[in-house]
Amino acid sequence: MEIIHTISALKTVLQPFKKAKSKVALVPTMGALHKGHLSLIEIAQQHADIVVCSIFVNPTQFTDPKDLEKYPRPLEHDIKMLTEAGCDFVFMPTVKEMYPTFPKLENWHIDLGNAEFLLEGEFRKGHYQGVTQIVKKLFDAVNPDIAFFGQKDFQQVLMIKNMVKHFNMPLEIVSCPIIRESDGLAMSSRNIHLSNVDRENALILSKALQFVRDNFEKLSVIELLASAKEMINGTQGVDLDYFTIANGETLLPIKDKEAKNLIALVAAKVGQTRLIDNMLLN
Ligand code: PAJ
Repeated sequence: MEIIHTISALKTVLQPFKKAKSKVALVPTMGALHKGHLSLIEIAQQHADIVVCSIFVNPTQFTDPKDLEKYPRPLEHDIKMLTEAGCDFVFMPTVKEMYPTFPKLENWHIDLGNAEFLLEGEFRKGHYQGVTQIVKKLFDAVNPDIAFFGQKDFQQVLMIKNMVKHFNMPLEIVSCPIIRESDGLAMSSRNIHLSNVDRENALILSKALQFVRDNFEKLSVIELLASAKEMINGTQGVDLDYFTIANGETLLPIKDKEAKNLIALVAAKVGQTRLIDNMLLN
């Protein structure tokens, strides 16, 4: 696996593959890799000839400077994992490489639709502008034919698809299933911040989602939401931001269960760590 730090070096190494019409995949990450990230690499390998993974902790998508500062950066461990996974290239630029005017950050604003301001967008103002800003830069640097994202960040995939439409970008976006620990906790780079007690308490999020999925046919939307919220609010040390059953395209809360593409989404602070999770319902 080759490690690349600059956009120009990346363009140079990828040029022969582009010329040979090889299919190039991109898996963007912020590092602190776990099996969830590796599943994206594996799926990318099944779909493409060359897989590029990017590791970049993007300052413009953090709304809390403390969160940015304490974001885990175990680079050697990440490189080892990607090498073992058979990834072809890892792109690890500096902040200056991606934002040449840093510490002054470039202005960026695109219309991502109303869903930008719901759920995560409400709790992390401007987050999806930052996400789309860096993903656009990564797409420009790699020029991939296909890019892979996790359903774990459901709203993020939606926002990236909206950006791709906005710029009419010629690439395919693939959403990949959530990888969980054996007890149901969705894997996340942030899980390492959980204490033993937090780790135990955090299970209530996937349990509540699973409850909604298991009882979706039996109970009304009101009953499902009431029970799920009761489960979470009844767990000490867990502070619920939202639990919703929404339309998977608009992210608006649903009124009836007839619609297709429904999803339950949750966000909560567990101890000091904010976690998100979701489950498709039909
Ligand atoms: P990061 O949180 O590192 O996640 C990188 C990719 O891994 C995202 O597409 C995310 O949805 C996926 N992922 C995380 N946990 C997963 C799990 N348990 N199962 C399956 N996939 C999982 O998301 C970002 O980075 C950034 O916002 C980024 C897109 C890189 C832009 O900076």
